[in-house]
Amino acid sequence: MQKLSINSIEKHFCHDQGLMQVLGPLNLEILPGEFVCILGESGCGKSTLWRILAGLEAPSAGKLLLDEQAISGTDYRRGVVFQNPALLPWLTVEENVALGFKIRGKKVPKQAVRDTIKLVGIDGFENVKPKKLSGGMAQRAAIARALVSNPDVLLMDEPFAALDAVTRLRMQEALLDIWQRQSITVVFITHDIDEAMALASRVVIMTPRPGRIAATIDIPLSHPRMRADDEFLHLRGLVADELVKSFKKSPDRELICS
Ligand SMILES: Nc1ncnc2c1ncn2[C@@H]1O[C@H](COP(=O)(O)OP(=O)(O)O)[C@@H](O)[C@H]1O
Ligand SMILES: [Mg+2]
Repeated sequence: MQKLSINSIEKHFCHDQGLMQVLGPLNLEILPGEFVCILGESGCGKSTLWRILAGLEAPSAGKLLLDEQAISGTDYRRGVVFQNPALLPWLTVEENVALGFKIRGKKVPKQAVRDTIKLVGIDGFENVKPKKLSGGMAQRAAIARALVSNPDVLLMDEPFAALDAVTRLRMQEALLDIWQRQSITVVFITHDIDEAMALASRVVIMTPRPGRIAATIDIPLSHPRMRADDEFLHLRGLVADELVKSFKKSPDRELICS
């Protein structure tokens, strides 16, 4: 496991009105084994930050370090899970999970693929095509695809947002189980306080655009969490208050030049 450091990351996009600052400057250290939930309102730059962490997009300024080494582009130490499972419909679950090895021209480690499918709880469905899977099962397959290369960090962008409320709770439990069993680091993007409270060992709150760190709050509660406990409710209140305070922390002017 390795430390992920975000050093003064910024992202600007060209818009009709000029250059728009979407993100940063943003600094954050994510320690091995943490379950960090990044929480912020829609449009604050969470997915942009996630794409930068995944190496799918370059920052306009700043650096990303994995164990003190600057990194760029994608690699198999960072597993990614999108909001949409993004499975290839003509491949089976097993073939989808093994896809990364095929793309790299590597021999598929069949046992590891099967073990990972079992780990995410969809064993028995190895030979099924994605259209026969429920939304939750498809997302389990997508998580298996990200985990099969044994990444140090799992980067997830609102992976359960499209699921119904009950399936979502089940998926949260399944993910916590995987996190505990694999001792992996998870960076989980969400706009949902309850989801962050259910999962995180630390909640990082972002300001509205341009997304910066407004506050970080440790959630030193064991799992399973009792959502009606005083300690849980107290911490949930702190997170909600910081989120509301964060709305006032974003500058009035978002165009940095025109
Ligand atoms: N490729 C892009 N080009 C221009 N603007 C973008 C691009 N990607 C995102 N944005 C803008 O950046 C802001 C943050 O987007 P995003 O990171 O998707 O936010 P979030 O995931 O928090 O909802 C939005 O205003 C969005 O329109
Ligand atoms: Mg997003």
